Amino acid sequence: MIKVTNLTKIYNKGTRRELMALDNVTLQVNKGEILALLGPNGAGKTTLINTICGLVEPTKGSVTVRGYDIKKDYRDSRQLIGLVPQEIFLEHFATVIDVLRYTRGYFGKKQDEELYKEILSKLSILNKKDEKIFKLSGGMKRRVLLARALVSEPEVLFLDEPTAGVDVELRRELISLVKDLNKEGMTIILTTHYLEEAERLSDRVALINKGKLEFIKEKESLVAEHKGKSLEDIYVNLVKDKNE
Ligand SMILES: Nc1ncnc2c1ncn2[C@@H]1O[C@H](COP(=O)(O)OP(=O)(O)OP(=O)(O)O)[C@@H](O)[C@H]1O
Ligand SMILES: [Mg+2]
Repeated sequence: MIKVTNLTKIYNKGTRRELMALDNVTLQVNKGEILALLGPNGAGKTTLINTICGLVEPTKGSVTVRGYDIKKDYRDSRQLIGLVPQEIFLEHFATVIDVLRYTRGYFGKKQDEELYKEILSKLSILNKKDEKIFKLSGGMKRRVLLARALVSEPEVLFLDEPTAGVDVELRRELISLVKDLNKEGMTIILTTHYLEEAERLSDRVALINKGKLEFIKEKESLVAEHKGKSLEDIYVNLVKDKNE
């Protein structure tokens, strides 16, 4: 579904303070899988996601989404992708339904009120349909971000720390929603610092550290390799080893 080849991202290029946020990353995401992207703060996870989504310009390398090059075939590749960004960024004075209508329009798709209702009720915010964004709590805004990502009916969904700052109940809801979407055939890439969440959800796990892809492996075989330890213990040891 996604092919990332020799992807490098250097921020502040041309100045003396260059930062290699991604260092020659090559990986593939299979259709229908849930991939957990793990790594410490500043590792390059968001940069990788935002590059695939066309929000960050790669310095070197290439990315294709279902065969569409993210630069040459930007419109086609972007159509296939839904993104729930790490930072909440929504129009304060818009209503929830405005956000969905606007986003659907942005993708050049026909307005579909039935679809909006379906998505909002799946996320338990149908009753907030006409509420202005600034009146919503943080958790509700997270739901709106997810609704917005689904409104273009994407085939791949990126969730960049969807459960950061979310209460236990919403976290559970989000986890079961991700599972349901995946059962319906959606390919999902998520980042999280809650390892137990990655352990429960993912088929494969990728570890990024200082811009480098350390590995991408089946979760089951990773856990088996480490004699059944929890993903959290495996992760802590690996990152500690690499950074000593
Ligand atoms: N727009 C930018 N300009 C310059 N440097 C940036 C920019 N965005 C990110 N960086 C730097 O690139 C590196 C990777 O950042 P990135 O946000 O991709 O990390 P991350 O793995 O998502 O971290 P976190 O877990 O904290 O979200 C960091 O050192 C960060 O400071
Ligand atoms: Mg990030």
